[in-house]
Amino acid sequence: NWTMVNIADESIEAVREQVGTGRAICALSGGVDSAVAAALVQRAIGDQLTCVFVDHGLLRKGEAEQVEKDFVAVTGVNLHVVDAQERFLAALDGVSDPEQKRKIIGREFIRVFEQAAREIVEGETEPVRFLVQGTLYPDVVESGGGTGTSNIKSHHNVGGLPDDLQFTLVEPLRTLFKDEVRALGEQLGLPAEIVWRQPFPGPGLGIRIIGAVTRERLDILRDADAIARAELTRAGLDRDIWQFPVVLLADVRSVGVQGDLRTYGHPVVLRPVTSEDAMTADWARLPYEVLQRISTRITNEVREVNRVTVDITSKPPGTIEWE
Ligand code: XMP
Repeated sequence: NWTMVNIADESIEAVREQVGTGRAICALSGGVDSAVAAALVQRAIGDQLTCVFVDHGLLRKGEAEQVEKDFVAVTGVNLHVVDAQERFLAALDGVSDPEQKRKIIGREFIRVFEQAAREIVEGETEPVRFLVQGTLYPDVVESGGGTGTSNIKSHHNVGGLPDDLQFTLVEPLRTLFKDEVRALGEQLGLPAEIVWRQPFPGPGLGIRIIGAVTRERLDILRDADAIARAELTRAGLDRDIWQFPVVLLADVRSVGVQGDLRTYGHPVVLRPVTSEDAMTADWARLPYEVLQRISTRITNEVREVNRVTVDITSKPPGTIEWE
């Protein structure tokens, strides 16, 4: 629609004006926001932009590949991939406090990103002075950016950059809500799988494992999550559901029975929600058949999980994520 054409054109123009002939870098997270921000800036300044994808090992199944292949194929963006999975696992070893996890993931992310940025800067004659971020309006509000409101959860994609890394921020989505960002993404020609991807937190599956993060737990959660997502898509409900976290209660075990055998496995929690902007949310009334299929498949296909539960709490008082 013409409004989005205007927003796209104006944003592209604004980025050109801000960046001029300078160079910029952008961190891709696998999410809609950073993808749309990067595509928009790429449109504005082309090869002056280099994207960095830090693979922290906390993404869902297939997401790293989608960034490394599909996004690059569509946008033609310069991409620098850093495999930092071991590093993040080591840093998170034994940590189960939610805010502690966020701090560690945020800190490691910045360090790895800084290192990558330095390498990119070194190879260039023109210094990299701009950092592109996919910050949305709700991120700005909920992290208290400029409004003086209190910090509910420390979102690591806002602020927190070290003082010695002198970048000027380019935040072309700062005034937009999610639905507007999606419309903008479509306007920019990004594929539906990226534009309609549900929001995913920067700390990724790290805050969907209740308890310490280990490689084994990540694998369990990734498998359960992939099943839930596949069944939601199969039911044609992707666009009705705002977000569908699957949470692994890694420190909880319950007794079950499979065949003639007693099991002692972990529960997962399905947390489908509807929302306009993540500030408030309602638990989604998924059809029983869909819940049934997800439950059957997860307990059959993910050996370590023997119980599937559904979270029926709205936000407030619950938050969307469990941590
Ligand atoms: P909550 O759980 O606070 O989440 O209702 C609101 C929205 O924010 C996402 N979220 C995060 N995003 N870094 C992010 O980039 C974070 O640390 C973080 N914590 C929550 C969450 O997925 C939901 O969309």
